[in-house]
This record gives sequence, structure tokens and C-alpha cells, in this order.
Amino acid sequence: MTAGQPGTRERSSALPIRPELAGLSPYGAPQIDVPVVLNVNENPYPPSATVVAAIAAAAGDAARTLNRYPEREALALRADLAAYLGADTGVELAPEQIWAANGSNEVMLHLLQAFGGPGRTAVSFAPTYSMYPEYARDTNTAWVAGRRAEDFTVDPAAAVALVTEHRPSVVLLASPNNPTGTALPAEVVEAVYDATEGVVVVDEAYGEFRRSGVPSAVQLLAGRPRLAVSRTMSKAFALAGGRVGYLAADPALVDALRVVRLPYHLSAVTQAVARAALAHAPELLARVAELRATRDRLAADLAGRGHAVAESDANFVLFGRFADRHAVWQGLLDRGVLIREVGPEGWLRVSVGTPGETAAFLAALDEVVATRAGERA
Ligand SMILES: Cc1ncc(COP(=O)(O)O)c(C=O)c1O
Repeated sequence: MTAGQPGTRERSSALPIRPELAGLSPYGAPQIDVPVVLNVNENPYPPSATVVAAIAAAAGDAARTLNRYPEREALALRADLAAYLGADTGVELAPEQIWAANGSNEVMLHLLQAFGGPGRTAVSFAPTYSMYPEYARDTNTAWVAGRRAEDFTVDPAAAVALVTEHRPSVVLLASPNNPTGTALPAEVVEAVYDATEGVVVVDEAYGEFRRSGVPSAVQLLAGRPRLAVSRTMSKAFALAGGRVGYLAADPALVDALRVVRLPYHLSAVTQAVARAALAHAPELLARVAELRATRDRLAADLAGRGHAVAESDANFVLFGRFADRHAVWQGLLDRGVLIREVGPEGWLRVSVGTPGETAAFLAALDEVVATRAGERA
């Protein structure tokens, strides 16, 4: 029951595909229709009837003028995003400091299009988000991945040494990191920024789930014209299907992204849907506190069962370590629970679901661990 995922067809050798793309499969986690889906860090709570009605009305209004191209600069949306992010971080932001696109995936592609390219290098610290090397590949940017420490933190001295050696034009720092959940302290971002002349991108896709006291890199923007902080409406806002990501940075950096975007890249419907969701931000975000509490309970429950658990500031938990993680993943799937086989060997990642979904996952995991498939590494 795998929907819409044709395998990679035998390609005709006559196709003049770029050699580095030959034989590659498209990126994406399996979309499998099972009762408990905890594999792509979605928010498990759909919008309420009130929010659905507001979004439908906004989309309906947009439909009336779909004969026209959308507002190309998406200024009203960027103003709403500036107001939201300013309130979330306590930093005043102007609309010109915000860029928006179809998911933070597209925001980051724009960053690599503008600041990467042939003869240039992008750097990050593995294990990290598996799309980063793909943005680099697709923009002909060289890719260098340093290593995180055993506990998945980034050592500032090692990070400075790596960027000093490779002189990247783009550094990608996920905080909280996917798939480990690790948030970066401000000192790491500051040290990397000071050691490079490149653009430093802090990817805060999971920023709203950070534990209290963990700062946002938005607080570091003032006086750092090469720093960009990326966010998304896919996770905390429960709007993954709406495809809206954004970043905050100096207006000059945003202007560089405006050069590489396609004209009218954000559809009128997307802009309207995002603005309606932002108008209901308190309601949409109301579940974030609950998801953080469920995450902390889930991490404690996993640790209590003797599993290794990475500290998480996100809406997922990385746990392990299994001799054969694929067997554990398959055992869970056989019991109707889909999680993600990702991260360092032996580890698995589970998204935070509803309390019911989380309980179903733990029960299935206990069963799998009791079989040979669950042997520890
Ligand atoms: C670290 C990180 N950044 C960015 C994204 C992209 O999210 P979106 O394109 O939905 O905004 C994801 C998605 O899972 C992610 O894990």
C-alpha cells in the first residue's frame, strides 16, 4: 500500500542527464498507509473546525482572482511572518528581513542557489538533515560534512577548524538538529560565524519545540549580515500540507534570494492559506506545549526501558542502539507503526504523536524487543 512512489525506472542511456544524477532515486520517506504514522515529524493534530473554516474562506477569496498572478513579493505574508517570529523570539523584525517560499526546503535551495554554486563549498555537521547534501548537489556546490561529537553536539573548536580549512560560502547548522534533536548553543553559531566569510544558516524547522531556556538564533541576527535563520510552518503550525517555510536575515541577504526565486513562486492560494493560519497562530500552536510534554515523557519511557536516547529539543526522539535496526523498523511496521530508519547505524527516529499513538508505538516496540529482531548493538 505504498502510494505514489514509482521506483526508479530503467532510464534510457540516451537521456543527457547530469552524470552525478544518473541512477539516483528521488528523496523521500516511504508514505505507507498504516494506523500509526510517526516517520516524518509531522504534527499529529489536524487543524480545528474553526481553523479549517478560516483557511477554506481564505482559499475561496483567493480563488476569485486566480486569473491573475499572485503578489510576487508576498509582502503581506512576510509582514505577518515578521510579526509572528518577532513575538516568538522577542526580536523586532521588518517584513524586508523575511523571505518565504514553498517549505523551508525551497528557502534553503534559494540560499544555495544564491550563495553556493560551482567552485564553492557548503559545510554542515553530520549526522544531520539528509536534504542538505541534495541542495548542494543540485546547485553544483561542493559538499563537506564534519562530524558531531558522540552526544551529537557540535564542538565549537572543531567547527571553527573545519570552516577555516574549507572556507565555505554556506554553512548549514540545524538547531534543533534532525535526526538527533540536538539544539546548538549560541556560542557555536557565534564561533562559526566569526570563523567564516560565508553565509551561516541556522535551520530552526523545529524551533518552537525547544525546551524553555534554549535560545533561538534569531536573537543573534543584529549586527550579523551573513546570518540567516530558517523556520517552517510545517511542524509547530501543523501546516505541512500547506508548504510554507521562511527565514529571517538582513534585508540585503533577502534581496539576494529574490534574484534566484522563480517569478510568482508562492501561489495566491499558498499565501492566503498561510496568512489565515498565522491569524490563528495561538490556536494552531496550542498543542506545542502538549507535544513537548509528550516528547519528554516518551524520552523518559524509552530510557526507562534501557534504550539509549538522544536529548531532544524537537518533536521526535532518536533512540537505539540495535544490532539490526531495519529488523526493528520492520517489526514495528508489521504491527502498524511506521517510524524512520535514519541517523547513525543502530539508531531509529520516532516522531512525537498523540498520547495514544505514542502508547501504541511503545507497546509495539516492547513486543519487537522481546523477539530476536530487537537485539541491542
Ligand atoms: C531540519 C529540517 N529542515 C527543514 C525541513 C523541511 O521542512 P519544510 O520544507 O516542510 O519546511 C525539515 C523537514 O523535515 C527538517 O527536518
